[in-house]
Amino acid sequence: MLIRKPADIPSSEITPESVYINRREFIGKSAGIGLAGAAGAGVVGSMFAGAGQASAQTQVGQRDWSAVRTELDEELTPREDVTTYNNFYEFGTQKEDPARYAQTLQPRPWTIEVDGLCANPGTYGLEDFIQPGTMEDRIYRMRCVEAWSMVIPWYGFELRSVIDRAEPLGSARYVEFKTLHDPVQMPGQRSRVLDWPYSEGLRLDEARHPLAILATGVYGQDLPNQNGAPIRLVVPWKYGFKGIKSIVSMTFMEQEPYNSWKRANSYEYGFYANVNPAVNHPRWSQARERRLGEFRRRETLLFNGYVDQVAGLYAGMDLRVNY
Ligand code: MTE
Repeated sequence: MLIRKPADIPSSEITPESVYINRREFIGKSAGIGLAGAAGAGVVGSMFAGAGQASAQTQVGQRDWSAVRTELDEELTPREDVTTYNNFYEFGTQKEDPARYAQTLQPRPWTIEVDGLCANPGTYGLEDFIQPGTMEDRIYRMRCVEAWSMVIPWYGFELRSVIDRAEPLGSARYVEFKTLHDPVQMPGQRSRVLDWPYSEGLRLDEARHPLAILATGVYGQDLPNQNGAPIRLVVPWKYGFKGIKSIVSMTFMEQEPYNSWKRANSYEYGFYANVNPAVNHPRWSQARERRLGEFRRRETLLFNGYVDQVAGLYAGMDLRVNY
């Protein structure tokens, strides 16, 4: 990733999101397994415990996000920052580029291919792809490898639901994701800043962890293009670059996928990318971070604060070697 002088992000009030529109039908019977039920998932604010089977319906509702806090009593990062301070190199390398230029992306219609080592491969339109998922709000910290962070209210479903539908074979140990490759819709792909398409991967047990989600919305609205419309990965205990945007494929593999940033510079970026204040980036410390909207830097937490939930995935592994 490029090193840049952090932009001056003014500390501002949380923007309450009064109207929210998304494509899922709210089904009251599932409300109990929303935010409150996901306490192990590190989300707080059960007043918004909206969950329901994924469907193609449109729902309009009202929410006031200003009272929402994380389990560590952190405030949400203002929507304005979440949607204008982005990394999406397919639209440029400056933080403001994606919000400015991503209108060329057409997130509908959208197709996702599921293939590789699985008994039930398939090609799905977005609405069918998300069908096994239970939609819910998940408030997660996001820690970028560049040492800035946010708190973001995603809307999405657990990744494991679509993995289970695919029925991975016993030989499948990893899952790889790819972003759309279309330089017309994504003009940044005309530059060679990365080897396109952007790709990322997880070990299958990481991918099946209940904290790992596929998000289709943020702040109660469908994802804006700059945040990875129409569907992106969110793995909150890992550096943000694992959160691949605008996904068009999911492939089950035996070998570790060769993810984009490792391919770009394997000395600086690894496959695991677990947030770890004790393992510095070769060019900067990872001990502290700048939370957007705050002046003082905060301490970075092991596994981004999700240590109780995910440390077991890495028992016996040397986190300095597997960075
Ligand atoms: N996905 C694609 N396809 N292209 C990218 O450049 N950037 C990654 C990740 N996903 C990136 C991507 C990085 S470095 C980060 S920090 C997060 O997206 C940023 O997500 P956000 O812009 O929604 O905050």
